[in-house]
Amino acid sequence: MRRIGLYYGSFDPATTLQISFAVRKKKQLDLDEVWFVLSEEGNPYKHRMTLLRLRLNRKGYKVIREAELKKNQKDQYIDITDDSLSLKQLTYSDLKYLTTRQKRYIMEHYLYLESISKSTLKEHRWQHVQRVAGLCRQFAGGNGYDERKAYCAGMLHDIAKNMDRETLEGYMKTFCPEYIDRNWQVWHQYVGAVILQRELKMRDRKIIKAVRNHATGDDQDILSMIVYCADKLDPGRGYDSSQQIALCTKNITDGYKLVRKEQIEYLKKEGVI
Ligand SMILES: [Fe+2]
Ligand SMILES: [Fe+2]
Repeated sequence: MRRIGLYYGSFDPATTLQISFAVRKKKQLDLDEVWFVLSEEGNPYKHRMTLLRLRLNRKGYKVIREAELKKNQKDQYIDITDDSLSLKQLTYSDLKYLTTRQKRYIMEHYLYLESISKSTLKEHRWQHVQRVAGLCRQFAGGNGYDERKAYCAGMLHDIAKNMDRETLEGYMKTFCPEYIDRNWQVWHQYVGAVILQRELKMRDRKIIKAVRNHATGDDQDILSMIVYCADKLDPGRGYDSSQQIALCTKNITDGYKLVRKEQIEYLKKEGVI
């Protein structure tokens, strides 16, 4: 007779806390195996399973779907579920419970983008980010670019926007001293790129570059132009941007030239540059 611990949950995604709990329970209760029994709700099963296996792929642990759970009469099953350890939504501060490999997988598959982004922002900024991400997808679609990648860049572009000036300054001094003389309002683009690389383990250079230039529009890679224009043309900014939006959807290079020209004129008028 085997003693099997059943750990029910959505594991969306599985965290260090849950893994160490399972390992501890296996020892404490002298279990032969622990089975992670995945419920149907949440992100696709294959992602949740991979994220679990990336963290715990060794003998004595199994991952199965709840619908496929079959119990053998010869074995003894012990429910070790602890719901208090599961995440409702993966937030920015929960990233500390994930390993680098898990975070890389999450970024490569564009998972949890909304909950991570939302957790760093105030409500009005979150509304802005959702509109920008939608515009990014629209511009990408119209220009034959990868829509999911563009949406991801839009969703994460203001990841550092809510940081206070002191925190931003700390990051700037450490990671981007060469840009510290620029207006502090644009620091969040550099710090955002740093956060993407260091905290989220993002490895997509185009996305990092697009975030790093989204406020100033200094880069002309297609994705950088998409995010810059989407950010500036957010209809929530309070002016009619429908013509520029139409142009960007048709031709992002032409749209970028127009938006950048208008932006420079505006900044001059306001006395910012
Ligand atoms: Fe921004
Ligand atoms: Fe923005």
